[in-house]
Amino acid sequence: MHRFARRSLLAAALLPAVMLVSGCGKPESSAPAATPKLRVGFAQIGAESDWRKANSDSIKREAEKRGIELVFSDAQQKQENQNKALRNFIAQKVDVIAFSPVVETGWEPVLKEIKAAGIPVVLTDRAVDVSDDSLFVTFIGADFVEEGRQAALWLAEATGGKATIVELQGTPGSAPAIDRKKGFEEVLATKPDMKIIKSQSGEFTRAKGREVMETFLKSPEGASITALYAHNDDMAIGAIEAIKEAGRTPGKDIVIVSIDAVKAAFEAMVAGDLNCTVECNPLLGPQLFDAVEAIAAKKPVERRIVTPAKVYTQKTAAEDVKTRVY
Ligand code: AHR
Repeated sequence: MHRFARRSLLAAALLPAVMLVSGCGKPESSAPAATPKLRVGFAQIGAESDWRKANSDSIKREAEKRGIELVFSDAQQKQENQNKALRNFIAQKVDVIAFSPVVETGWEPVLKEIKAAGIPVVLTDRAVDVSDDSLFVTFIGADFVEEGRQAALWLAEATGGKATIVELQGTPGSAPAIDRKKGFEEVLATKPDMKIIKSQSGEFTRAKGREVMETFLKSPEGASITALYAHNDDMAIGAIEAIKEAGRTPGKDIVIVSIDAVKAAFEAMVAGDLNCTVECNPLLGPQLFDAVEAIAAKKPVERRIVTPAKVYTQKTAAEDVKTRVY
């Protein structure tokens, strides 16, 4: 039985005893019993990027603001650790479980266990690939396919539809890596002079982005690269270092578009190194806990909550960077 329902039953069962103790058939006047604190388990992916750190901060900050008890777990990029955390939340009988799945597949068994325990699930940021939609209540996050499309449309415009592109993909098997590639390629299918010549995972980190870009540049096709599409800003920033080291000019010799719009991307645009970033808002805390509170109050919740996005370029970067909070 759900913890809130259990608590109401317990309160009802105790009421006659309280009346007896007071001795006059009337309960003693006292302050109304405090509503029990909601307890939410959140299984985060890790701390691989500036985006992820801002996302974790937003969730922790919002829980604290609302007086919600948050049991937060960091899986360090491993699905195995996320599975453990989720099972731990079942054992702790939390009221709601929320998580950002590191990869799309392989969640059915644990989600079925959570369902059997009667705990509602909220997905944030990344989706899961499951055949039974009743395994989660709602999915809150950006439209990654659209982000990929926006990146490609901007690049087509900036290059006059002519580009020899290298791609730095996100974590293999993750929803943003799959969808951002899909959206980008969808637009490229209509641009015959824009081709991806190399594509590899940089695992959403600066270090790996730099390392993979270095191998792209050293390859026999390295000199022909005119554009970079990175699935996040961190990888683009790592790649910028590799481009400079190779004696080429990022932002000019190689036009760069990435995704996230974190503060460091605006700084790179001000410096002229990065050309464009497509926003993916990490500040999901308020939307997450709106959904959690609605679920606890048995109110209806939208099945899909999409966070809006914007495209930012060097044109307005100097102004934008002043107000960027993450
Ligand atoms: O799932 C969102 C992606 O994960 C962000 O774009 C990336 O920076 C992060 O690590």
